Amino acid sequence: MNEESRYLTFALGKGRLAKTTLSLFEKIGITCEEMKDKDSRKLIFVNEDLKLRFFLAKGPDVPTYVEYGAADIGVVGKDTLLEEGRRVYEVLDLGFGKCRMCVCGPGSARELLKHHERIRVASKYPNIAKDYFYNKKHQTVDIIKLNGSVELGPIVKLSDVIVDIVETGSTLRENGLEVLEEICPLSARMIVNQVSMQMESERIKKLINSLRAYI
Ligand code: PRP
Repeated sequence: MNEESRYLTFALGKGRLAKTTLSLFEKIGITCEEMKDKDSRKLIFVNEDLKLRFFLAKGPDVPTYVEYGAADIGVVGKDTLLEEGRRVYEVLDLGFGKCRMCVCGPGSARELLKHHERIRVASKYPNIAKDYFYNKKHQTVDIIKLNGSVELGPIVKLSDVIVDIVETGSTLRENGLEVLEEICPLSARMIVNQVSMQMESERIKKLINSLRAYI
């Protein structure tokens, strides 16, 4: 099989992440006209000339597709990578979607954190929360998994604090909460399947280099 005869498949996290990724790819000459049709319910798109395929998936599923080789390459937030813990290569920080993973809550929760009390932590990211409190802070806490609007946790007294993404900070401000501790910075990352990285190394390295030069 010659080098260009196999399709390279990309899994992109649905929504803003996919849109920004596609406009970044356009800048380095990778286009997918098919994908621009907003009314389309199609899930997979092909660029025959460049031998590329793209599909949109739920963010947390992107590392799964890439680990199993259903996609060679994925673009996903660092939050999802940390939470899912999949065996993939993280090859590039794409520099957009910048935000922070933080412990947030009412100002009064500072004392509870300081004294390592057994607090309740609500989060969409239970693995990140567990790793932070158990392995980094050596603090025993109860973690409660939520699926969104996590800021409600401390307001309705489900939890003392939350572990969540902070971008502009306006959701916190509007709900009387604040950043209490910063866990790590986040942004969009490019990930690659471990076997694809060897089998398609030339094409993938070329892509990484063009993106890196552009960024
Ligand atoms: C995310 C995050 C915060 C908010 C932070 O939620 O979970 O709630 O954005 O952004 P800000 O600091 O700019 O206010 P998202 O909008 O993805 O919805 P969700 O709460 O349902 O997860």
